[in-house]
Amino acid sequence: MKDKVTIHTLKKLKQAAQKICMVTAYDATFARIFDEAGADVLLVGDSLGMVVQGNDSTLPVTMEQMIYHSKAVTRGAKRAHVVGDMPFMSYQNSVEEAVRNAGRLVAEGNVGSVKLEGGAEFADVIERIVRASVPVMGHIGLTPQSVHKMGGYVVQGRDEATARRLLDDAVALEQAGCYALVMEGVPLDLAKAITSRLSIPTIGIGAGKHCDGQVLVCYDLLGMNPDFKPKFVKRYANLHESMNGAAKAYFAEVREGSFPDEDHSFRSSTMRLVASNPDVQAPEGAEKSGVYGVPV
Ligand code: KIV
Repeated sequence: MKDKVTIHTLKKLKQAAQKICMVTAYDATFARIFDEAGADVLLVGDSLGMVVQGNDSTLPVTMEQMIYHSKAVTRGAKRAHVVGDMPFMSYQNSVEEAVRNAGRLVAEGNVGSVKLEGGAEFADVIERIVRASVPVMGHIGLTPQSVHKMGGYVVQGRDEATARRLLDDAVALEQAGCYALVMEGVPLDLAKAITSRLSIPTIGIGAGKHCDGQVLVCYDLLGMNPDFKPKFVKRYANLHESMNGAAKAYFAEVREGSFPDEDHSFRSSTMRLVASNPDVQAPEGAEKSGVYGVPV
């Protein structure tokens, strides 16, 4: 496709000072909606472990699950570049295992690149994955797979020493071959300094406005969970309320017997009778199609 977004498009967007729009997606329907709305990048995030599976962390997500969701998202995306998250323990054990799993996400999940969490300590892993022709997006700052090490989901790089380390990590990841970098949960002045230091695009989540692009978890921006409202999330819809209202209306109509009505019911198929006996006239309003789902 002519204007399909690639990792090279993203670099050009940074050079042209045009913001990159990224959002998570976990299935083909959401992917199609965001793709049509103009997303540059769709992230099959391991956040699916929390928002789709209902776990309290991303840690239980497996390679098989990431491949399953990646396949679905790539079927729904036409223009956007699709990135697949490397789940916990799919790249931490050994370089060989990391390369094999990155390759599986591309070959089986059909994604255009992979994302993995961590700083300079993963430079060798990233170099090898990139050498195997799989583009890598880095992810530093608040890295949810390290929730236990961080002692919770806490903003990173608030003091000088940790800020310095994050800047060093960012430079190391660029040198290792990352084509872009997610910065999550870092102060905006630090995100600004890192963004101007790197030639690869930075994508922020809870990292302020100076990043080259932004990413949000789709369920958060759509307001699907009224109990989750961190400072960095802006809700652009209240789907929890809309979906709750729609479901209530449906249940009420089922209970009172007003759904399904005539308009949403099939009539008996006289067409087959007519076809086999030309003397029989189909009554007005008789079924015109036997195909389920075709409106008559
Ligand atoms: O898994 C995810 O959704 C992510 C984003 C929050 C960047 O990594």
